[in-house]
Amino acid sequence: MPSHRYRPVHERVELPLTSRTWPDRRIERAPLWVPVDLRDGNQALAEPMDTARKRRMFDLLVAMGFKEIEVGYPSASQTDFDFVRHLATRDDLPGDLTISVFTPARADLIERTFESIEGLPRVLVHLYTATAPTWREVVLGRERTELYGMIRTAAEQVARLADARPGPPVRFEFSPEVFNLTEPDFVLEVCNGLTALWDASPDRPVVHNLPATVEVATPNVYADQIEYMDRHLTRRDAVILSVHPHNDRGTGIACAELAVLAGAQRVEGCLFGNGERTGNVDLATLALNLHAQGVDPMIDFSDIDEIRRTVEHCNRIPVHIRHPYVGDLVYTAFSGTHQDAIKKGMAHHTAQAAELGVPEGEAPWAVPYLPIDPADVGRTYEAVIRVNSQSGKGGIAYLLQVGYGLELPRRLQQEFAQVVQRATDGSGQEMTGKELWSLFSATYLAPCDDGPITLADWYVTEPRPGEHEFEGVLRTPDGAEKKVSGQGNGPVSALTRALGTIGVEVDIRNFTQHATTPGPQSAAVAYVDCLVNGTPVWGAGQDTSVLTASIRAVLSAVNRAS
Ligand code: KIV
Ligand code: ZN
Repeated sequence: MPSHRYRPVHERVELPLTSRTWPDRRIERAPLWVPVDLRDGNQALAEPMDTARKRRMFDLLVAMGFKEIEVGYPSASQTDFDFVRHLATRDDLPGDLTISVFTPARADLIERTFESIEGLPRVLVHLYTATAPTWREVVLGRERTELYGMIRTAAEQVARLADARPGPPVRFEFSPEVFNLTEPDFVLEVCNGLTALWDASPDRPVVHNLPATVEVATPNVYADQIEYMDRHLTRRDAVILSVHPHNDRGTGIACAELAVLAGAQRVEGCLFGNGERTGNVDLATLALNLHAQGVDPMIDFSDIDEIRRTVEHCNRIPVHIRHPYVGDLVYTAFSGTHQDAIKKGMAHHTAQAAELGVPEGEAPWAVPYLPIDPADVGRTYEAVIRVNSQSGKGGIAYLLQVGYGLELPRRLQQEFAQVVQRATDGSGQEMTGKELWSLFSATYLAPCDDGPITLADWYVTEPRPGEHEFEGVLRTPDGAEKKVSGQGNGPVSALTRALGTIGVEVDIRNFTQHATTPGPQSAAVAYVDCLVNGTPVWGAGQDTSVLTASIRAVLSAVNRAS
């Protein structure tokens, strides 16, 4: 690989911060969030959003609770211009929502941007210019001083047009594009100059947005750059320090989080990380990372799948199945050891909620392998455990318990897991809860009726307390029918005695039964572990009658042994 062609970040930009404090800080509240899906994300789509899609995305962002939304680049396309005009004519915009529009530092485009926002009550105009050396030299062909002059001229025009507007004051944002490769002293010269020019105050703060337009370094470097700016920006209480990480190195999330530790108060990004190349930082992951640390993200993700559907529709890009918090598989365990731990964790969670006297959705969460409760984002527990050849008894037992109310005894779990393993190894496929139930029924319940020995016209009486008599007709493999009877201290032992009369010796080693649902109408299931003519075998029976379920379980074991 020709790695020698690339230079480390330290050779590309000065990093003056020495004694950093961000590593010792914590994030204790959510930053201001600004979704840029309708501008930066939209600019990166093969098919940019049409008006209907823009509206759907906008309505989603409002419903989720965002208070500032960058809605477009109105001087760049008629669709964006028309969309801003459409918003200006809507009378249902939330009173606390700020609409942000994006413009380059060019007189005609600034003019057009202001035309688009006419009539909008709360607006922020976002001015940007690339400032990094390569962009200055290769793209813009301007020296630092010349570029700064151009930015100031644009900022003055923005201020003039804003002053001329009736209504509440327009707010301003400046982005030195490719901040992360720009000389820190130049960023400070430009940003501090604009803070003064726009006469920013704590009541009308300016936003200085410092983008990692193309990620070039480990996140600690970006954090150092942000902390340096945090310390050196003038009129600091009149500045909102914003970050805008992209994800070229796959560390956009880390960059944003460390930048917040380093003093950033606002984060721009896109839902599920849409955006140019590898995308903008994902606001959903950032917000839910906070949630998972006990910090309210102030954005509603309680129906994440609906959010995903809308975003996929608008962007026409699917969200990956492994995408944090939202992917189809992110709350799913296939591995046997993980499933065991989750099953125990869920049972513990239910018990703990009961002990605390709070609903399960309010109880502290400590289920292994699940960083958050899937229910917080509107997921059910159905997908949490899925069974394939990597799975074990815990997961299988969990699905049968959740879906069918079965409480398999531990040793039966072990035996059935092997049955499942043979099936999944053979097919190479996953098994759903329904398929597991069919396999369990075919293996343990059906042999009662399908096997060589069947039972007809049976009944059990209890002539004296603790003394049971079984009578019935057994049909044997040779087709003969034989009336049998037996006595025992319970119905099952009475049946085994009756079976003994036709030469089937049954020694019950373990017997359990339970109802499959609460309430008197519930079906009962019985499990029996026995030696049939010396062969160890399990049987199971199901019926609305507890007695019938247990008789069927014994007969199933007898037939499975033959
Ligand atoms: O990535 C970027 O630098 C941007 C800005 C111009 C804000 O999108
Ligand atoms: Zn960007």
